[in-house]
Amino acid sequence: MIDLAPSILSADFAHLADQVERATAGGASIIHVDIMDGHFVPNLTIGPPVVKSLRRATALPLDCHLMIDNPDQFIADFAEAGVDWISVHQEACPHLNRTLNLIKDHQCRPGVVINPATPVETLIEVLDIVDHVLVMTVNPGFGGQKFIPSTLHKIRKLAQIRAERGYGFRIEVDGGVGLDTVAELVRAGAEILVAGSAVFGKGDAKINAETLLEAARSASLQRV
Ligand code: DX5
Ligand code: ZN
Repeated sequence: MIDLAPSILSADFAHLADQVERATAGGASIIHVDIMDGHFVPNLTIGPPVVKSLRRATALPLDCHLMIDNPDQFIADFAEAGVDWISVHQEACPHLNRTLNLIKDHQCRPGVVINPATPVETLIEVLDIVDHVLVMTVNPGFGGQKFIPSTLHKIRKLAQIRAERGYGFRIEVDGGVGLDTVAELVRAGAEILVAGSAVFGKGDAKINAETLLEAARSASLQRV
């Protein structure tokens, strides 16, 4: 099953509700929300008040990607703002097990994220408690960056570990997902596709979402 999770980072924030609605009409099933703090990544985005407004604008699950130091400090605030999924970076969490359980305690689905330079092996001890693993396919911080092909083997490895151990997590990818990269990502095992500029960059978000999903679904039929 393939899900498209448009990242609102590339949307027009003055027309957020309309943009999300167009992407939903095109088949988006999750809304990806990028939270950046200017410390863990060199950029700033939005906080709980905007998320709270977005919550009123869509019935789709909100997938909150925390690119922040000390995520424990803000998990309650984002849960209260109405997000459904919260993912934290392995690189930002010295007490990863505790942080993931804190997300669960707030009735959100816990996810873990790895940067392009972080090996899958660093996640072995938490793969049984996460709902999803997010493989960054660019270095986090900005939309519109170029996909890093060396991340593909990590998607394959995660799918292999999951099959061997019978785990239930889903595999999500984020960064440079577009018509030129989506097929190889899906064939490698990506199931949840985050896409910012490919959906909201130019043209109509509905058509963009439809076209991307169509390419992803036809590639999923070619999975080996
Ligand atoms: C990057 C963010 C992404 C970003 C992706 O740090 O985590 O979610 O919006 O943007 P594109 O799809 O344009 O690479
Ligand atoms: Zn993201």
